[in-house]
This record gives sequence, structure tokens and C-alpha cells, in this order.
Amino acid sequence: MMSAIRPVRKAVLPVAGFGTRVLPATKTVPKEMLPVVDRPALQYVVDEALAAGIEHIVFVTGRNKGAIEDYFDIAYELEDTLVAKGKDAILAQVKATVREAGTMSFVRQQAAKGLGHAIWCARDIIGDEAFAILLPDVLIQSETGCLTQMMEAYNTVGGNIIAVDAVPVERVSSYGVIAPMSGKEARDGKLIKMSGMVEKPAQADAPSNLKITGRYILQPEVMDVLKHQAAGAGGEIQLTDAMATLMESQPFHAFEYEGEDFDCGTKLGYFEAVCAYAAEHPEIGGPAKMVMRDFGHG
Ligand code: G1P
Repeated sequence: MMSAIRPVRKAVLPVAGFGTRVLPATKTVPKEMLPVVDRPALQYVVDEALAAGIEHIVFVTGRNKGAIEDYFDIAYELEDTLVAKGKDAILAQVKATVREAGTMSFVRQQAAKGLGHAIWCARDIIGDEAFAILLPDVLIQSETGCLTQMMEAYNTVGGNIIAVDAVPVERVSSYGVIAPMSGKEARDGKLIKMSGMVEKPAQADAPSNLKITGRYILQPEVMDVLKHQAAGAGGEIQLTDAMATLMESQPFHAFEYEGEDFDCGTKLGYFEAVCAYAAEHPEIGGPAKMVMRDFGHG
């Protein structure tokens, strides 16, 4: 049993995937860099992590993902040009994307062996610290960032916490799904105790309709489990399987966050995200809603 609650300073963002469901757009542009209104999808997820107090981000990348590293670096020529043209507002936005040297790491997942394997690739950088995982395909629009909500819960219960959300039963086979415990004591506000979890179950075998959404706070011991984790659903090394094992020896909670999630790895989910973030955008929110209304009536 663990005693003190370990601080969460690092977050792992797996960005090695090909983005096959939105090809050919992702042939030369990493899917995480596709724009949602005026910034790459990835920027929203990094901002969510930073708002939650994350100090160091570990990207698990692959070949053809160099644009991600460049995005968070200084672009001298661009900045000089904006200075010369007196475009101060845009310059400030460009500068805000630059992270301080040493606060981001990039490791490569050399083969597409699954999410569990991708996370394991970050083990040396995570060391013996508790850490967060944010799947950048998933954007979560909420007043308080999803990871911030989870951190607040973590600071009271510690252990491992995963974000979950109810989905129509016809969709459970696309996700990791939890088996919530029943009874009054199993629930404390947004926290739910679990008896298990399963990756991509057939609808008939799903233990509930609560899907795992793509935000996790985990203890570093998950890396020891992942080291020996056999391939599971889809022939891939699954994070869900490793978490199910870790659950036998460590406290684990599911957390029902407040917010709306969008799966930018799919065409429709990406489109929904663009609409949702455009509607909330300070500059174009009003007219964007009018455009959407016009299409709705078209
Ligand atoms: C991954 C996880 C799954 C989770 C999902 C959320 O699946 O393995 O447990 O529910 O992300 O989007 P993937 O979408 O990579 O197939």
C-alpha cells in the first residue's frame, strides 16, 4: 500500500500514430497538428496539461512527427518578420507556443505496438514519479480542464485515477470500458470504485457503458506491468490490460469529469471539435454560430 500522495509533475502524450482515419490529410502533417480554429489540436491538450500544473511533457513520437518538436521551439525568422512588421498581437501568440528549454522530452516509439507500449517508451523519463497521460486525439471542452478536475480528486484520494464518460451501448466496442462496483459506497461524488476494466469489449460482454476517455493519472508501477504485458485487443499491447493488473495491488478510481469530449482521430469527431471551439472563440464565436445555423437550415 502506498502512503504519501506522490506529486504529479510529468505528463506523457503519445503522438506516434499515423492518423489513418483522417488520411490523406495526415500523409505529411501529423494528425495532432491539424488546426482546430486557429491552433493545432495538440495545443489544446498541452494547455490542459499545463493548466493542471504539469511541468514537463514527454511526447512519444514516431517518424514524420518533426513538426511537433518545431512547433514548441523558437521560430527566429518568423518572430523577426513579425517584429519588423509591427504585428505585436500575432507575435505574442507565436511566442506563447514556445516552451522553456528542458521542459519537454521526445522519445520514439519505433514500432506501432499499441498504446501500452507507447507509454512504456517513456519509462526512463518518468522514473519513480506519478504521472499523467493525455491522449491528444481527444479534446475535452470544459470550464475547468479535465486534468485539473482529476488532479483535485487525486490530491484527496491519491492512487490511480482514470477519466470516464457514459456512451451509447452501441459504441462501447470502440473503447476501454470499466466495470463499476455497485452499492452506495462505490461512489463518492464523481469518483467511482471499480472491479475491473476491459479494452474494446463486444457490446454483449461490456461491463457497463462507461468508456475510458483518454486522461489518466497513474503510479509509476504501471511501467513494471507494461514491461511484461502481452498483446491484447487488436494484437496490441494495451494500457487498459496493464491498468487492470495494477488494480489488483493499488487503489484505482474512475472519475466522471464535467465536459464534452471530441475524438479528433475521426472525421466526424474532428468536425464536431472545430464547430464547438469555433462557437466559443472570442473573435469568431458569434459569426461562427450564425454560419452553423445557416447550414442547419440549408
Ligand atoms: C485508446 C484506449 C481506450 C480508450 C480510447 C479513448 O483507444 O486504448 O481504452 O477508451 O483510447 O479514446 P484507441 O482510440 O487508441 O483505439
